Amino acid sequence: VDVSQIRVAVAGVGNCASSLVQGVLHHRDGGGVVDRCGMMHELIGGYRIGDVGFVAGFDVDARKVGMDLSEAIFSEPNCTSRYVESIPSLGVVVARGILEDGVDGALAEIVPVARQAPEVETEDVASILRQSAAHVLVCYLPTGARRATQAYAGAALAAGVAFVNCNPEPVAADATWRERFRAAGLPLLGDDVKSQIGATSLHRALAGWCEERGVVIDSCYQLNIGGNTDFLNMRDVGRAASKRMTKTISLSGVVPPGAKLTAGPSDFVPHLEDRKIAYIHIEGRGFLGMPFSMEVRLGVEDSPNSAGVVVDAVRIAKVATERGLAGPLDDVSTYLFKNPGRPVSDRVAREALDRFIRP
Ligand SMILES: NC(=O)c1ccc[n+]([C@@H]2O[C@H](COP(=O)([O-])OP(=O)(O)OC[C@H]3O[C@@H](n4cnc5c(N)ncnc54)[C@H](O)[C@@H]3O)[C@@H](O)[C@H]2O)c1
Repeated sequence: VDVSQIRVAVAGVGNCASSLVQGVLHHRDGGGVVDRCGMMHELIGGYRIGDVGFVAGFDVDARKVGMDLSEAIFSEPNCTSRYVESIPSLGVVVARGILEDGVDGALAEIVPVARQAPEVETEDVASILRQSAAHVLVCYLPTGARRATQAYAGAALAAGVAFVNCNPEPVAADATWRERFRAAGLPLLGDDVKSQIGATSLHRALAGWCEERGVVIDSCYQLNIGGNTDFLNMRDVGRAASKRMTKTISLSGVVPPGAKLTAGPSDFVPHLEDRKIAYIHIEGRGFLGMPFSMEVRLGVEDSPNSAGVVVDAVRIAKVATERGLAGPLDDVSTYLFKNPGRPVSDRVAREALDRFIRP
């Protein structure tokens, strides 16, 4: 019997899931001194990070399906760092998930799909969610896996579980899904995690600072390179289209409408592994039309950077369930995700988050 207070299921046991599981276990130290380093919020609605527990996991990679979650998170092709040396068995066997369009393009060449007949359907996943008594399903499917992502959203609905969509496929930003979650009385957070010190978050902050200082932005771009499977997958322009869109939508909120703007994944550099480099460039004009330009290079490890936000999102989803908040949480989501559907300003989002956490 899992005694965790927030029971989480993950769909997609890739690098981000690895960092999330490691982050939770790192903070579950049995009441010892809690390392606050890198935490956005120690307490949310009375819950600590260590109060999160994992009750189900879904993947389609033969190297992960059937393994305990504690081992699957370190299976190839996952390449994020191991920060937590010893992870006990979690008693959660990774189940074969709904395949749909999860493994297309470049991924199909490196992911051996665990074959299963008949194919897993939405109701099979919903049934596992019910049996495990999950409170929240976190979707970590690859970018571009739109049908698969929506199938998991359907499973969460069928099982009565809150949904946190970490990838850029539209669920929180889709009118139909928004209404379905509202009607079912379930919280919906997403889409596409705005990492803790993420490129989009930093780019927005810089653009907001330019506006505050009264200068005009004429153009900007944000180039991103990395070496994990997410970047391999996004080498395919079609698969990456949703990511380019969520970044652009998020930046459009702060970059003036007349400015030229390009932002998206730019290349796959295998030896970077889970490291990601972002180059942000802004050009504009100040007093008297003085031209200026700035360039920022941000180097991070991709997956822990997103897990630092998801540990908050799952606690918010649980607290929202307790408070009977149904449907998309647009204001709070704006702080944590790139495309919440109906974004608010950063200031309003931050205030809404503070109010949510300390009502
Ligand atoms: N900083 C970040 O890393 C970051 C930030 C924002 C958003 N995201 C998004 O989060 C998502 C996950 O990122 P990641 O780095 O963990 O990717 P990843 O490629 O490491 O993991 C994806 C996992 O999903 C599995 N999968 C594929 N199809 C599936 C299906 N149909 N059902 C179940 N599992 C399936 C894969 O086998 C793999 O284990 C991506 O869409 C990414 O763009 C990541």
